[in-house]
Amino acid sequence: QAQVVIEIKTPEEVRRMRKASQVVAKVLLELKSRVKPGVSTAELDKFAENLVREMGAVPAFLGYRGYPATLCVSINEEIVHGIPDPKRVIREGDIVSLDMGAVCDGFYGDAAVTVAAGEISGAARKLLDVTSRSLDLALSAVKAGARLGDVSHAVEKYALENGMSVVREFTGHGIGRHLHEEPSIPNFGKPGSGPLLKTGMTLAIEPMLCLGRAEVVVKNDGWTAVSADGSLAAHYEHTVAVTDEGCDILTLLS
Ligand code: MF3
Ligand code: CO
Repeated sequence: QAQVVIEIKTPEEVRRMRKASQVVAKVLLELKSRVKPGVSTAELDKFAENLVREMGAVPAFLGYRGYPATLCVSINEEIVHGIPDPKRVIREGDIVSLDMGAVCDGFYGDAAVTVAAGEISGAARKLLDVTSRSLDLALSAVKAGARLGDVSHAVEKYALENGMSVVREFTGHGIGRHLHEEPSIPNFGKPGSGPLLKTGMTLAIEPMLCLGRAEVVVKNDGWTAVSADGSLAAHYEHTVAVTDEGCDILTLLS
């Protein structure tokens, strides 16, 4: 594979990314309690956009490659990039992925979480737990001196051990002055392979797992990615800065 150049951020740049990331974390926290049967995905989006702007930040996804909203809201078999819609109403038992980015002082933060609407099935609960835990394990693999493949492998190994499948068409990414920077961060890979991680690199790590098969189909709206077999999907994401000791989770609310 060709060498990729991964930008190192200064402490001041990381500070700005933390500012953007804390806005994202705060909005996702506020959204969580608003995910309930009867609420439309457009209402969640409106709430998110207002709160982002109130906090002095700018929605990162709005207008990105023509994306029309602040939030991505992806329900059940939708994996990522669900477009908010006044006609799309959350129902009891749904699993709802909320993905958002924000920009502050020219720097980006990006995070996602999947939440349950009311009571969900045991299988759905397990999918959420395994996906969330796979992100924790990926973060545990981040450290100056580690390889990106160590991080990717941590997600894949845990997902497969637990009978889940890993989406291959979408990846995490470097982040900073742009929403998407080098490197691309697949959720599968070989330990010891890939770019060397260094202190000051900033990464958005985002496992996307399915209960069934992981093949993806993009719907006619040009955005919404669903599992081809209709199986449930979950998505979690944090923006982190690589440190000598491990990582600094910028989107963890402080
Ligand atoms: N978290 C996703 C990503 O980093 C969301 C991007 S949605 C888009 O790719 F609208 F901005 F494309
Ligand atoms: Co992202």
